[in-house]
Amino acid sequence: MPTYRLAPSILSADFARLGDEVRAVVAAGADWIHFDVMDNHYVPNLSFGPMVCEALRRHTAAPIDVHLMVQPVDALAQAFCRAGADLVSFHPDASTHVDRTLQLIKAEGKQAGLVFNPAAPLDVLEWVIDKVDLVLVMSVNPGFGGQSFIDSALRKIERVRRIIDDSGRDIRLEVDGGIKVDNIRRVAAAGADTFVAGSAIFGQPDYRAVIDAMRRELAR
Ligand code: DX5
Ligand code: ZN
Repeated sequence: MPTYRLAPSILSADFARLGDEVRAVVAAGADWIHFDVMDNHYVPNLSFGPMVCEALRRHTAAPIDVHLMVQPVDALAQAFCRAGADLVSFHPDASTHVDRTLQLIKAEGKQAGLVFNPAAPLDVLEWVIDKVDLVLVMSVNPGFGGQSFIDSALRKIERVRRIIDDSGRDIRLEVDGGIKVDNIRRVAAAGADTFVAGSAIFGQPDYRAVIDAMRRELAR
């Protein structure tokens, strides 16, 4: 069995108490903090930037998993590397030079990820798989928390799993959007090992209860 990781998205946390929310969800068993960056350009919503990441860095030792939904990518990717992110992922269709953006993140000593929207092709992976530490499959269209899981993501996860296994490299396969206690097992069975969940966790009063229930599903 793979080492599963749960990455709660603080997009659904209480923004007025972000430091407390991060501490609470890590104390409840979260492995990573998923940090959704939206720019009102690549996606129709606006969230938070590198200064918020830097502030939260002081509140937790947990890895900060930055998901950039921004265009252009490079300057912000670098800013997040310097603001304490551990992993920085971006959408290849938002970057003019994908290989260069990956190199830029790696040169900052951080892990680099590529994110694929529900309708995005995976072709680019063939050419940069040696520079990728994580592949993030979107199971909703990016921009908002609380949307429903798009089922075609399951086939895409299976395909990415084959690409990763064929590469022989140690690459995480993360899934983002609509993950709940009642579907996480199917997502894992398709080949995912890392799970983002926003509303499912922060929408409940007892974060530990949800995280424990997700882990029980993964262990069955
Ligand atoms: C969507 C974000 C997700 C989102 C997930 O653009 O990338 O991380 O917060 O939220 P839920 O789990 O509520 O679908
Ligand atoms: Zn995300």
